[in-house]
Amino acid sequence: MIPAAKPMIGDEEREAVDRVLRSGMLAQGPEVKAFEEEFSAHVGGRHCIAMNSGTSALHLGFIAAGIKPGDEVIVPSFSFAATANSVVLAGAIPIFADIDPKTFNLDPDHVETLITKKTKAIMPVHLYGHIAAMDRFDEIAAKYGVKIMEDAAQGHLASLNGRNSGEFGIVASFSFYPTKNMTAGEGGMVVTDSAEVARTLRLLRNQGQEIRYQNEIVGFNTRMTDIHAAIGRVQLRKLPGWTAQRQKNAAYLDANLKGVVVPFVTPGSTHSYHQYTIRIPGGSAQKRDAFMEAITAKGVGCGVYYPTPIHRLQSFNLTLNLPETELVVKECVSLPIHPSLSQSELETIVSVVNEVAAKL
Ligand SMILES: Cc1ncc(COP(=O)(O)O)c(C=O)c1O
Repeated sequence: MIPAAKPMIGDEEREAVDRVLRSGMLAQGPEVKAFEEEFSAHVGGRHCIAMNSGTSALHLGFIAAGIKPGDEVIVPSFSFAATANSVVLAGAIPIFADIDPKTFNLDPDHVETLITKKTKAIMPVHLYGHIAAMDRFDEIAAKYGVKIMEDAAQGHLASLNGRNSGEFGIVASFSFYPTKNMTAGEGGMVVTDSAEVARTLRLLRNQGQEIRYQNEIVGFNTRMTDIHAAIGRVQLRKLPGWTAQRQKNAAYLDANLKGVVVPFVTPGSTHSYHQYTIRIPGGSAQKRDAFMEAITAKGVGCGVYYPTPIHRLQSFNLTLNLPETELVVKECVSLPIHPSLSQSELETIVSVVNEVAAKL
């Protein structure tokens, strides 16, 4: 069976964890500081603040950016629930917009129609490792005076016109969950170009204190441990090579898959292929599910990210008209793309997908 995703943990990660365990200093310390500095090199030298998860990064990012209870934040409904959960956790109201079906990302034209006096931020998601239309969102932000945040949980090293994800919004949040392009076990990173927002984030993650027992504001404990940071540092060093391998794998699939819609890449952007997501045309979830069952039976793992738009989850339960989102949830399926795939596994994926797609 070729798994849909595969975290890659080697001896270097094990040795790094062992080094921290032997040091006896397990909580946030020098490894976290070093991880933040090293991550900064990939996001234009911006301030980096490590957190215990991508969700904490998003949540505290909203608070630090000054999003207040009752403010509206426009987000895509086609994403992982944490995108909208973090808005609600900050007391704000998620307003769900539709996507551009080509890129699977937030549609700037639809976003513009949803802007009201209460809109304080727009948060595109770089879904599957494809950067959102950040040039358009920058224009919209300037026109309406709203903030741009980035949910970069899946967007490590995705770029647009030479700028990496994390270099656009007032804050951007990354995730290091095990299936992401790099992991820390669990963890997240907030990136900002504002020294003031960075300081607030450092306070918020540590009970509101910079100096021990001199708490300045009410805060959380969302610190990353040095154990997780040590894993993250090793993985960060491997990330560029792994990303290049994902891109090579994607180029092979793009060139050889037939009968399915392969991922689109916006000109000027670099896709980092957190997922390689194809579409089974026809607007039928049954057809897509039959395709998945057939390729799984032939040894090719796959997954649907995400089968239900966030606004229709029980936790939100809204009735909205988001036609592109509703179509894509029925047609999308992600194939294995991880950097450990061998050439023969790639060939198996192509022959199995093409054979099954031809019979649909
Ligand atoms: C788009 C998106 N946003 C937010 C998150 C939340 O990250 P985490 O699982 O690290 O809390 C994830 C990943 O799980 C995600 O894919």
